[in-house]
Amino acid sequence: MRVLVTGGAGFIGANFVLRTLATRPDVEVTVLDKFTYAANPTTLAPVANRIRVVRGDIADATVVDPLIAETDLVVNFAAESHNDNSLADPSSFVQTNLVGTYTLLESVRRHGVRLHHVSTDEVYGDLDLDDPARFTEETAYNPSSPYSSTKAGSDLLVRAWVRSFGITATISNCSNNYGPYQHVEKFIPRQITNVLTGVRPKLYGDGRNVRDWIHVDDHNDAVWTVIDRGVSGETYLIGADGEVDNRTVVEAILEALGQPRDAFDFVTDRAGHDRRYAIDSTRLRTELGWTPAYTDFSAGLAATVDWYRTHSDWWAGVKDGVERSYAETQQTID
Ligand code: NAD
Ligand code: DAU
Repeated sequence: MRVLVTGGAGFIGANFVLRTLATRPDVEVTVLDKFTYAANPTTLAPVANRIRVVRGDIADATVVDPLIAETDLVVNFAAESHNDNSLADPSSFVQTNLVGTYTLLESVRRHGVRLHHVSTDEVYGDLDLDDPARFTEETAYNPSSPYSSTKAGSDLLVRAWVRSFGITATISNCSNNYGPYQHVEKFIPRQITNVLTGVRPKLYGDGRNVRDWIHVDDHNDAVWTVIDRGVSGETYLIGADGEVDNRTVVEAILEALGQPRDAFDFVTDRAGHDRRYAIDSTRLRTELGWTPAYTDFSAGLAATVDWYRTHSDWWAGVKDGVERSYAETQQTID
């Protein structure tokens, strides 16, 4: 099987490529990636001789079309993915997440190729801390940020192309991923690398916002489950029952690195900051038979802390720039 992995040099896409090469010898991988600031070329370097890598934009039909003409499946991870960036400048989010997905859809339609579209639980908006509800496939879309609204729009485009043009496509909406190769702009790697570089972790607002953490390998195994057994036109929610508030995550990171649990700062809150995400993945588990392997978040987090501790060569080159950029908008709150 020939698979085109868009965004395959980013966090989840690169983990998907590495896992696919390790577990599916029958799959030929081509990566299409624009290599934005979010891509790290060194992640795929060890497997460079086993895959084809094309540098290009999913919104450029002249690049996309010949690649899709010669593949059996497209897995679309390519996106602008960071909420804080989408608040600073939404334009690339509209261009990549909406126009890029549209461009892929038109091409898979022309060539009769299957698409799996990777999306986020943020399309459903947020939940109150004391709300017993979790998101299901039936929850109404209610995105809050420029990032999540462009992802919501991209999902709706996929649904419309299935219904109106009969393309074969599935969608998965996953909760917050953690694990190796995640950019240091994101919450968990930012705090780990802060402690490792002598900077105090930074918590937005009151630190009580809840995210539903899942290990990136569990996410990618679920993506393959949907590719193997999912029904075209359907949406599957991916989550591993990993609800934890941000302060608890920071305290665990500090403890794992031998620092006092209260050695963090509260900083300016994110505008429109979603309070809580929570996924009910019953459908994926009962209809498609997926279960997560990483059921102990503390153990997964400790392994991730260890990965960043032993791979400073992977992140050190971009760390200062990320912190300089955050410092322009975030002040410490006393
Ligand atoms: P990331 O930012 O780490 O990687 C995105 C990749 O896409 C980068 O390699 C980047 O160079 C590439 N890219 C960006 N614009 C492109 C374009 N126009 N053409 C081609 N390539 C382009 O993101 P991630 O965290 O790996 O997320 C991957 C996907 O998973 C995204 O669609 C995101 O919405 C979704 N998702 C992420 C999470 C999470 O917790 N990180 C959770 C659920 C869903
Ligand atoms: O839910 C899935 C989504 O998870 C994905 O669709 C996004 O691509 C991914 O970036 C992530 O979005 P979040 O906004 O939840 O992730 P982020 O890592 O930016 O922040 C996680 C939480 O931590 C959130 O409540 C904001 C908070 N935070 C973040 C940073 C960077 C802090 O308290 N301090 C920080 O320094």
